[in-house]
Amino acid sequence: NNLNQLYRSVIMDHYKTPRNKGVIDDGTMTVDMNNPTCGDAIRLTLDVQGEIVEDAKFDGEGCSISLASASMMTEAIKGKSIGHALEMSEEFSKMMLGEDYDISEEDGDIEALSGVSQFPARIKCATLTWKALEKGVKESGQ
Ligand code: FES
Ligand code: FES
Repeated sequence: NNLNQLYRSVIMDHYKTPRNKGVIDDGTMTVDMNNPTCGDAIRLTLDVQGEIVEDAKFDGEGCSISLASASMMTEAIKGKSIGHALEMSEEFSKMMLGEDYDISEEDGDIEALSGVSQFPARIKCATLTWKALEKGVKESGQ
């Protein structure tokens, strides 16, 4: 249907023109995360000042879903607090499990990935950068 087409074009757009690709050299948080089922690996770097994610970038190799998701995710968390970013991560996981979720427009394009929950094998791809965020926060004790 039209919504699926719209969502697919949003995902392709993020894949072809990734936002926030690269590494923040003087970032405050660096996390490496891989998807063991395929071996794809991404690096997430953040610049967190106080509670706020001032900048977020990702780099690495992955499939279209994982890279589009990383692009959307870095866009979505920029300017938000770490607490809000973790809330979004939780909502995103629910979305991927096909449960009720609360993701608002202000959280960006990430809802475009909701259709991925029909393809269980792709859920790990879509959640890769979010898992990196959660790991990074846990490790840094923030
Ligand atoms: Fe930001 Fe729902 S997580 S509005
Ligand atoms: Fe490797 Fe998607 S196939 S992250």
